[in-house]
Amino acid sequence: MRRYKKLNLFSFRIYIDIFAPITLLLFLFVGIGLTAAESPNRQHDRLWMNTSLTPERRADLLLRAMTLDEKITMVHGVDPRPIHGYVGYVPGNARLSIPVLRLADGRAGVGNGAKDVTLLPAPIAAAASWDTTLLHAFGEVLGNEEWGKGTNVSLAPSIDVVRVPEWGRTFESYGEDPYFNGQMAIAEIQGIQSQGPIANANMYLTMNQENNRFKEDSVVDRRTLHEIYLPPFEAAVEEGHVGTVMCAYVETNGTYSCENPYLLTGLLKKYLNFQGWVMSDWGATHSTVASANAGLDQEMPGAKYYGEPLKTAIENGQVSRPTLDEHVRRILVTMFRFGLFDKQPAGSWDAYVRTSAHAAFSLRAAEEGTVLLKNADNLLPLPVNASIAVIGAAGGTKPKASGGGSSGMVAPYVIAPADGIRKRIGGRAQVSYADGSDLAKAVAVAKAAKVAIVFVNTDDSEGRDRPNLELPNNQNELVQDVAAANPNTIVVLNTGGAVLMPWIEKIRGLVEAWYPGQEDGTAIAAILYGDVNPSGKLPLTFPRNATEIPTGTVEQWPGAHGISSYSEKLDVGYRWYDAHRVQPLFPFGYGLSYTTFKLSGLQVTPTSTSGAGLDKNVRASLKVMNTGKRAGAEVIQVYIEQPEKNGEPPRQLRGFTKVDLEAGQTKSVRLTLNRRSFSIYDPELHQWKVPSGRYRIMVGTSSRELPLQSDVEVVDNEIP
Ligand code: BGC
Repeated sequence: MRRYKKLNLFSFRIYIDIFAPITLLLFLFVGIGLTAAESPNRQHDRLWMNTSLTPERRADLLLRAMTLDEKITMVHGVDPRPIHGYVGYVPGNARLSIPVLRLADGRAGVGNGAKDVTLLPAPIAAAASWDTTLLHAFGEVLGNEEWGKGTNVSLAPSIDVVRVPEWGRTFESYGEDPYFNGQMAIAEIQGIQSQGPIANANMYLTMNQENNRFKEDSVVDRRTLHEIYLPPFEAAVEEGHVGTVMCAYVETNGTYSCENPYLLTGLLKKYLNFQGWVMSDWGATHSTVASANAGLDQEMPGAKYYGEPLKTAIENGQVSRPTLDEHVRRILVTMFRFGLFDKQPAGSWDAYVRTSAHAAFSLRAAEEGTVLLKNADNLLPLPVNASIAVIGAAGGTKPKASGGGSSGMVAPYVIAPADGIRKRIGGRAQVSYADGSDLAKAVAVAKAAKVAIVFVNTDDSEGRDRPNLELPNNQNELVQDVAAANPNTIVVLNTGGAVLMPWIEKIRGLVEAWYPGQEDGTAIAAILYGDVNPSGKLPLTFPRNATEIPTGTVEQWPGAHGISSYSEKLDVGYRWYDAHRVQPLFPFGYGLSYTTFKLSGLQVTPTSTSGAGLDKNVRASLKVMNTGKRAGAEVIQVYIEQPEKNGEPPRQLRGFTKVDLEAGQTKSVRLTLNRRSFSIYDPELHQWKVPSGRYRIMVGTSSRELPLQSDVEVVDNEIP
């Protein structure tokens, strides 16, 4: 102790004697330097910190005070991983009071290895609820935990339309319909942004496959681009007011997304009037000059193109100073708009952010998103006194609660289905388990029980598409053998999207539970035993076989010579099945309940209108009755069939609403259609139009169950 003190004293003396004068000189130099650098700023006196000014005014004031280097710092990330845990990081600027940007992944909760967070169901599961209120709450939980972790830019949601059923990231998205994805995006974005973080709509655009994703060129016509792939982003921008957009890895029509002037400046910033900023996906920037001039505002995660090379390009005039200012200004305006200069997340990456309320929400979302697909002879819901054989890795030893890749998570816990079922039964019947690796053992276990529940799964992840739609490993065999051994076999799917089910006729019950999050076992038990009446609907078509799918040729997927040909054009998802009169196994919008519903009394007004009259909207009203014996919820879906000459797919979703009904209860439902509901995109005119003709309004409970129909005549409207 003493020695230590002495030493300290000694060193201090040396410091005073020798270093003090040097330090003093240093201070003087730095002081002069700082004053010089700050001099343009002085007269502003940080006026941008005045919260009564508009975000735009504040950004302009700040921009004027920034040096070239300070601007460059804003337009790229620095690799934060070794220090902070975040996946993206832009340092702050103390001189100008610019806060740090901390970006984190997570589409089903905070990702990037964060601990003590809530694992929500995969977004495809949440979307299968067809409930925008639930998606808003989903965004709130995610946004709240991100903010609690210190994140101020949350890299969610992922909103691309699912074009290829094998797409490895299907589970991160909402499904195959542009309008539907747009509605889900609006809700989730608003939910996230209500909690503090800026949301991020990704991945822009035509990001529809993982195979060859760093090089693949999506070749797509403009009408399809506008009608199928752009609408979710349009909704995210116009109604979701999303603060950031992430450009994708792939190319669209020969140019990488992140240096594509048509996509970034033409469509996103001009046509959609997006006011926020565009960041590249991680490593999706491929150039300096082309990207900067095309409209990419920020390179992520590093400085390869937007660090020194951008400074050089500015100095030699290849990128103009106003162009750089525009990029920086978008970032600053958004940061001001979201109040980041005025309030920062208090928490840090190590914060404990999960709560019991969030766990309860995770459970509810998993329950609401579960889709009942088959229920022969009303085998479900199960009685608690029936002995159960739980079969399959996903049912016990390896629950499949989440997908992989950048939205992979560290789950605080996952309730395995076998445990959830055991807990629900509470000792009133026997529950046995076999993981399915040994077929003979699985069969024996199945035989000994009254009911066999087989859990099968796919291992979907970013970075790879599924090779095909078959269940991997020996799972088809497992289901077949179990079904042969036990007449009461139920299959639970833990998949990121559609799979083929050659054994469908052999089983009596089928449930799609997706990747259900941490409450996996509790949620599935609540469904199987009828504590929760299933009300989810498929946001994707499940095909009957491998050949009858919209992207069945190699040229379409995974592509030939680096090109994926979007030759199916508008016929994406159910649109293709309808256009080609192919019967899917389970259609888009399909899902059963433990009760029954009846729709009646459709009234559409007006039944005839001019194009201009469409601005006053068309209303469809009907009655829905719960004709069964238990409370439940039904999703009312409205599709429009266009006049044949318009060259559109047979029917397209244009509205939906979820209605809760007590047993025997009837409710009136009203849905509104607007001009856009009737419009088609004219690539020559570069705008939407509503050709005159007879439009059929079709209302029902799936894309193939549309019992109520009525026409609307649009007159005198050849010119939009
Ligand atoms: C993914 C993005 C993700 C980013 C950062 C990329 O590989 O495509 O969705 O946000 O990594 O982890």
